[in-house]
This record gives sequence, C-alpha cells and structure tokens, in this order.
Amino acid sequence: MHDIKVIIRATEMQKHSDRMRGLGKTVAFVPTMGFLHKGHLSLIKEGRKLGDDLVVSIFVNPTQFSPEEDFESYPRNFDKDLKLLQKEGVDVIFSPNEDELYQDGFQTYVELKNLPNHLCGISRPIFFRGVATVVTKLFNIVRPHIAIFGQKDYQQLAIIRRMARDLNFNIKIVGFPTVREPDGLAMSSRNSYLTPEQRINALSLYKSLNQSKKLVESGIKDAKRIIDAAYALIKSYQDTAIDYIAICDPETLADMETIDRPVLMALAVSVGKTRLIDNMILNPE
Ligand code: PAJ
Repeated sequence: MHDIKVIIRATEMQKHSDRMRGLGKTVAFVPTMGFLHKGHLSLIKEGRKLGDDLVVSIFVNPTQFSPEEDFESYPRNFDKDLKLLQKEGVDVIFSPNEDELYQDGFQTYVELKNLPNHLCGISRPIFFRGVATVVTKLFNIVRPHIAIFGQKDYQQLAIIRRMARDLNFNIKIVGFPTVREPDGLAMSSRNSYLTPEQRINALSLYKSLNQSKKLVESGIKDAKRIIDAAYALIKSYQDTAIDYIAICDPETLADMETIDRPVLMALAVSVGKTRLIDNMILNPE
C-alpha cells in the first residue's frame, strides 16, 4: 500500500512543503472537509496528475458555519477517508484539529467586498468570510503551487480566484467540473442526510437546470421566464424550500435580465432540513 503521511501540526506541514519545494517538486493541494465522495476524488485524481507531491486537507472549518447550521452534525469518517486517499496515491493528509488553526485570541479574517453579496452569501452572511480565511491559512501552511476546487461550489471558486489575485498568492487555481450521481444529483457530503423520499425530491435541482438549459437553447432570452419555470418545477416536488434561483454574470455574479451571452444559473434549495446547491452555465448559442 502507498505510504501516506498524516500531518496534524501546521509547522510540520510547512516544513514538509518547504522540503518538497527545495527539491524542485510541484506541490498540488486539494482542500476538503472530508467525508469524501467521487466529486472530491475527481479533484484528487487531477491533483495527482498536476503535482509531484499531492496534499489533501481534511478540516471541518468552524468559522464558515453559523450557529444554527450543521457544524456539529457535519458527517465525518476519517478512517474511510484515509483508505480512499491511500488508494489515490495521495502523499500527505493535512488534518489539523480546531485549536491548531484557531488559537485563543484569533481575530484576523479575510473578507471580499462584492462577490459574497450574491447567491449563497445573502442567506449565509459569514460563510465566505470563513471560507476565504481558512483557505488563506491553508495556503500559507501547505504552500502549494497549484490548488484544485470544484465548480459545484461556483461562488466559492470565484471568490478564491479573486482572493488569490488580490492577495498575490502566486498559486494556480484550477476549477474542475461537477461530478454527479447517475441520475444527475450533484455529489455532496450533505446528500448523506437525505431520506429515500428526500433523495427523489433532491433531483428537482438538476431537473430545473436541465429544463432551463433547454429553454435557453430554444431561444428564450428572458431570465425571469426561465427562473419562474424553475420555481414551478421545484415547487412541484414535496418538501422543497427554495432559498434562491438566479441567472447571473459568470464573473461578477450580478443578476442578469437578458440571456444574450453565456450566463451562470445557480440555485440553493432545502430538501427537508438539508440545504443543497447546484449550478450550470447556460449558453444561448
Ligand atoms: P467540501 O465541501 O468538502 O469540498 C471540497 C472540494 O470538493 C471543493 O472544492 C468542492 O467544490 C469540491 N466538490 C464538492 N462536491 C463536488 C462535486 N460533486 N463535484 C466536483 N467537486 C466537488 O468546499 C469545501 O469543502 C470547503 O468550503 C473548503 C474549501 C474545504 C474550505 O473549508
């Protein structure tokens, strides 16, 4: 079996990376919150191709959860993750505990001005501050040349790209396509919360995106018409509560009224208590 290193201390992680960099190796990095699925594994396989040394972090980051969210119950299974990562030939798992990253007196956060004011940032006001802060910390600890993120979390990816440019991280940010279940549901660690009935209703997200894609391809340019049809489709499934459905500029994430160029359609829907997100680029050509 492949020899995998589990590192818990930030200083040890930095030393490992500095050693690799000194040897002229390319360090690739995939940050995760664990409970790995095929979506995570696709990023990790890509990381294996892009880097000589591949680091995966597993850390359920408390600062991106608000008090009423699922930090405590977020699914965790380190032993299973370890086996999966061994099989993928990962070199290092960086798995710090909470105190290692947030010591007493911690008070420095990374905030973006505009990108978080759309989509998920509206109903999760502290979420992207937590993500930007922990990813900055992880970048400073892992010191990668390349970091890979999923397009499933489109707004997160946009924020990390912007932040890497704004703060001169000199890290190549790679975005990778969403991996779906055979019926189209986007893979997510939170899918494990769904009951069999909720699992059926969860498919309404992907169905509404597909319906929208067809409507746009048939020549409809009015974003409101597309969004209204998506609302109707999702509401026809039981146990669904729509947080938002948006058609927006893929760069700024600002709402768009007319689909006269490729747009991002993004949505967040709770099925029972489980909040799910998905997105698709819609192209009028
Ligand atoms: P987590 O939800 O564990 O996701 C880790 C990475 O996997 C993210 O880049 C996410 O976009 C990607 N991912 C999740 N589901 C995917 C799917 N179905 N297909 C492709 N990629 C997928 O996102 C986070 O953790 C955290 O916010 C983190 C960046 C680690 C900061 O705490």
